[in-house]
Amino acid sequence: MKNLFILVILAVGISLTACNTGQQNATSNLGEVSEVTIDSLLALMTLDEKISLIHASSSFTSGGVERLGIPELVFSDGPHGVRHEHGRGWFALDGVDDRSTYLPVGISLASTWNKDLGYIYGEVLGNEAKERGKDVLLGPGINIIRSPLNGRNFEYLSEDPFLTGAMAVGYVRGLQDQGIAACPKHYAANNQETDRHNIDVIVSRRALHEIYFPGFRAVVQDGGAWSIMGAYNKINGQYTTHHEYLNNVVLKGDWEFDGVVVSDWASVKDTREALLFGTDIEMGTELVRDFNNPVYDEFYLARPAREMIESGEIDVSYVDDKVRRVLRLMLRTTAMNDHGPGKRNVPEHQQVALDVAREGIVLLKNDGLLPLETSNIQTLAVIGHNATRLFAERGGSSQVPALYEITPLEGIQNLVGNDIEVVYAEGYEPYYDQSLFADISGAAASQSRENRRDVELARTANQSLKQEAIALAERADAVIFVGGWIHGHEGMPWGEGTYDAEARDKLNLKLIFGQEELIREINRVNPNTAVVLMGGSNVEMNNWLPDTRAYVHAWYPGMEGGRAIAEILFGEVNPSGKLPMTFANSHLDYPSHSVGEFPGRNTVAYTEDIYVGYRYFDTHDKEVVFPFGFGLSYTTFDFSDLTLSKDGDKVLVQCTVTNTGARAGAEVVQVYVHHKNPSVDRPVRELKGFDKVHLEPGASARVSIELDASAFSYFHPEEFRWVMESGSYEIQVGNSSRDIHLTSAIEL
Ligand code: GLC
Repeated sequence: MKNLFILVILAVGISLTACNTGQQNATSNLGEVSEVTIDSLLALMTLDEKISLIHASSSFTSGGVERLGIPELVFSDGPHGVRHEHGRGWFALDGVDDRSTYLPVGISLASTWNKDLGYIYGEVLGNEAKERGKDVLLGPGINIIRSPLNGRNFEYLSEDPFLTGAMAVGYVRGLQDQGIAACPKHYAANNQETDRHNIDVIVSRRALHEIYFPGFRAVVQDGGAWSIMGAYNKINGQYTTHHEYLNNVVLKGDWEFDGVVVSDWASVKDTREALLFGTDIEMGTELVRDFNNPVYDEFYLARPAREMIESGEIDVSYVDDKVRRVLRLMLRTTAMNDHGPGKRNVPEHQQVALDVAREGIVLLKNDGLLPLETSNIQTLAVIGHNATRLFAERGGSSQVPALYEITPLEGIQNLVGNDIEVVYAEGYEPYYDQSLFADISGAAASQSRENRRDVELARTANQSLKQEAIALAERADAVIFVGGWIHGHEGMPWGEGTYDAEARDKLNLKLIFGQEELIREINRVNPNTAVVLMGGSNVEMNNWLPDTRAYVHAWYPGMEGGRAIAEILFGEVNPSGKLPMTFANSHLDYPSHSVGEFPGRNTVAYTEDIYVGYRYFDTHDKEVVFPFGFGLSYTTFDFSDLTLSKDGDKVLVQCTVTNTGARAGAEVVQVYVHHKNPSVDRPVRELKGFDKVHLEPGASARVSIELDASAFSYFHPEEFRWVMESGSYEIQVGNSSRDIHLTSAIEL
């Protein structure tokens, strides 16, 4: 039937856009398709056929038109690897070859602060999705990290909108240059999992435009995203997936988005709103009806929509616009365009996983213990459940059927070989403690008598594991502790027993399974201990960090993560990761808890407004453990010679960075803007530019970062428009939001 489609195209004398090879950061003309083709196809369609294009035809496909040779559109999760093959149902198929490259998670990528890695990360995903026969990859996840408790922070990028946009743009371009549509998600303000299908986010227009929209605006206007995914939650009373202001006024109006708004799975709640307010494809509604016997013609944008058009209640032009967008997406992607075969599980993809892991791991504390010297270690103790745990397959829809996953213990053993004796002790065994989880209202779930008994048994078992680990630590020359969070407990249904996963938020940041006590005990018996934590967020640190000599945060570093962790601990790689979120000691320190609400109940008030993350901590001079943008190196850097030059309403910021240490390394030059006397309340500083430089010992580089008018502008809280005030601004250059090395003032 596809040849019929070709005949149709030939009949209207239209040629499809030849796909290009897709150069890095190319302003790819892949996005240009013939509008005449689209209109010609639309003119051939019946209303029924148009309707079939705007809702699901199976779990991860939306409808096509066989008569015209228009294929279905094929979607796949997820943000850091192509998910299992589901076929047309809801469960991973057995016996299929769907193993894939498991990249470090989104927050790892953001921690590299390396825009080029964003592009090659997307390129890997585009190749693997293409090889698996997909047209749309459901990523990147770019929601702002408003609270450290959000279960999906690991999938997202940052607390800062500028860093989020900068890292996501490369990802989108890399993906789409392979002919696979990106689907940045979840638009917008989906910053918690608790009650996600119902929660109504009460937030100011200014906070939307300054904090929650910029990442999406960047992927649309700079990344050229071909689709966007709506979110489950409401904003100010209306569901985001069919939100008049979000979709019609901002996304498709101001930002001129010409792609497809895909719902989240079962996020469409109303036919009329979905028709009028910008939903272009409805997916997943069967999940809230009967996913064993889905009736796709009963979707909101199926029979009910058809009837509204036939009755004249709503004009067919609303459907035509959706169909045009869907056809444009098909013509841009592999659905109707040959973009080559794609590649999967190839060494160069695994190299990207390693490169991102190496640059995304953050060295947060080191008194000189690191890098470890094998020459003065006979016995090395590796302690901690996470040293051997696999992570790829859990976390929710972002799960990946990894081809392999090198654990930290394997990475360490592979690196040190037979030079030293490596001994391992688990130290603690995860257990499911119901009281550690929030229920739908965000309060601690009630704990059954049976669970209380199970927890007691587990804690007793962990006592002996702890003693065994401490004994091992005592006789070792050095210790590497690998702990932190896990996605969730094996065998638990989604949402139950999860920490870093979809559908659940954490209750607090306390280290789980008795790890805090174990770390303290290990430090007591052996000060030569390095702590490595995995996880999508920080943990409470004040009780163990002071007596810990070295601490590395590894997030979830992907299939090569164990190797990268070992390379950093033993100095084969010089760490260069920087925190994309503030690490404060307790969740209660964060403004979403101390000023705003989290997780709210039916409604959640973003009372902290624009003061998210360092915008709050720095403006109010609040204590943090490690600031936004912070990360150590095994070498040192010096910043000098800051110059500012104006070119119209642009400002060119230049400075020199010198590697003043004895080994090669990379530094992230961060540029913050401080508005000295604004007429409205503004944060003390805002990240508006950055660049990562790799330098040999003694080498220097002249870094240039251009700021345009947007770097100085704010969204007026009453006039609802962007304003760039003349006045005095301070440009602050540093390597974290609290390590400002150079400042200079400029009058605009
Ligand atoms: C899920 C997630 C979304 C995912 C989709 C398909 O509920 O919210 O991120 O892409 O459904 O699995």
